[in-house]
Amino acid sequence: MAKKASKTENNEFDAVDLIELLSIPENADSYLVELSEPEQDIDLIALGKEQLKEEAEKLAKTKVITPIKPTTPPPAPYPLHPISSSHTPLPSSPLRPTPSKPTNIVTPLTGYDNDSFEQIIKDIHACQLCGLCKTRKNVVPGVGNTKAKLVLIGEAPGADEDIQGKPFVGKAGQHLDKILAAAGFKKEELYICNILKCRPPNNRDPNSEEMKLCTPFLQRQLALIKPKLIGCLGNIACHYIIGPNVPGITRLRGQWFESIFKIPTFAMYHPSYLIRSASRDKGSPNWQMWQDIRALKAKYDSV
Ligand code: URA
Repeated sequence: MAKKASKTENNEFDAVDLIELLSIPENADSYLVELSEPEQDIDLIALGKEQLKEEAEKLAKTKVITPIKPTTPPPAPYPLHPISSSHTPLPSSPLRPTPSKPTNIVTPLTGYDNDSFEQIIKDIHACQLCGLCKTRKNVVPGVGNTKAKLVLIGEAPGADEDIQGKPFVGKAGQHLDKILAAAGFKKEELYICNILKCRPPNNRDPNSEEMKLCTPFLQRQLALIKPKLIGCLGNIACHYIIGPNVPGITRLRGQWFESIFKIPTFAMYHPSYLIRSASRDKGSPNWQMWQDIRALKAKYDSV
């Protein structure tokens, strides 16, 4: 059972408190949920600070990724936090080359001047653009404050979401709830949704055609909500929303990007990945998420 978190002198949860708060209960097997593990990128954390800086500079020169200049507080520094000495260092490897042109930029929608959430939900129900309409139990449009300053976006509904018709209600969602609460977010202030509005069978990854076909629904949601910020959860959502030509999530996380929607977008780990990632050591994904969610909250409070 998760223990009750204590507070520091500044009345803030610290990383250790969060670890206590989010610690995985005895039945860890029940957390074996779908996962987009950025295996390709894990070896990057073995690169030294200097090497990472060099790679970052090389990538920046391509002008494909456009980090938005941080205001306060600064996001986590581009070179990753050092992994703790309890980790076995992984062999370093060169970064994947960054292709020169993004390919899935969204096209502006026309003809939705009188759009409404009721209409979007109706249209999602009626949608038969891809095969997922045949296997879904329910559509999962999104939930929350339709005037939210911050929209959180994942990749696609899972089994629990498919049953309930709501995003992030399964194990990953419960973990996300704890992270949001620990950082001081009130869930009812946020809007939470996915790129796909229907569950891919067997929790397989969404394919690019499905994401492309479903994107107009997300565009319409964003056009109505007009959020100031987007929080993008996980490798797949980040690669679609920030742009396909960016490095993996371990290098994107904690940074702001313009995104295909031209809304400042913060890259974060997916809660499923955090559940699977046992370590709470300094530099571990759980520790990094704690830095990121607090940076997001500070930005949220400042807009
Ligand atoms: N994972 C997601 O990306 N979205 C959900 O709604 C649930 C799990």
